[in-house]
Amino acid sequence: MALPSASLARRCFIAGNWKMNKTVADSLTLVRELRNAISQVRDRVEVAIAPPFTALHPVARALEDSNIALAGQNCHASDSGAFTGEIAAPMLKELGCSYVILGHSERRQFFGETDAGVNRKTAAVLKAGMLPIICVGETLEEREGGKTLSVVETQVKGCLQGFAAAEGAKFVIAYEPVWAIGTGKVATTRQAQEVHAHIRALLTGIWNADTAQQIRIQYGGSVKPDNAAELLAQTDIDGALVGGASLKAADFSAIVKAKG
Ligand code: 13P
Repeated sequence: MALPSASLARRCFIAGNWKMNKTVADSLTLVRELRNAISQVRDRVEVAIAPPFTALHPVARALEDSNIALAGQNCHASDSGAFTGEIAAPMLKELGCSYVILGHSERRQFFGETDAGVNRKTAAVLKAGMLPIICVGETLEEREGGKTLSVVETQVKGCLQGFAAAEGAKFVIAYEPVWAIGTGKVATTRQAQEVHAHIRALLTGIWNADTAQQIRIQYGGSVKPDNAAELLAQTDIDGALVGGASLKAADFSAIVKAKG
């Protein structure tokens, strides 16, 4: 039986990954501007921001009574312990985070993050009462070698292994082609939709069609106000994970409002 148009059922989710940017003072200025800019966007779009750890507490307070959720950019797989420099999932939950970005390509590239590690961190995030935004995506070399779909398949299967469908339905997957991050090179809508559809088929195989239809798959990689609407109009693109453009209230709010 044909499934109903999935994009109608899934609420668009736009998240801003601030990466290692913004002092506390700068963060509070940006949050103030953002609150004003997107106060009218209530039900149609879900919005989250992921400031650096140092700004989470003040930003959480500044977001009170707003329609913007808070996300961490990473966490450790253990709840506590001798892991100098790390942050545990319950600590993020305590500060008001609802989501944690896991397996970002910058963490994979510069900090040795693996699919198995993301899998363990996903369990920690769920245990703490938050939801993961799990990032996958191929490098330029992998794309040019025709390996995009198999690379993404390995990442999705490795990161999601062992979770029940009921948990999986709440996950967010972010497809971020590494070659499109911070480069200004956005994937074409056809390239992005092809991988998103492939990911949804993988999710159907891992769990079932019903669960796969509930999971939101964000696109990330040079999303800007002028390309967001076209990307978000694709059947299997349910939102965006925005880097550079999330650092400016005008750009981020324009992306939030791009979903027609
Ligand atoms: P840019 O939007 O700066 O390309 O970054 C994307 C990203 O990495 C979001 O996590």
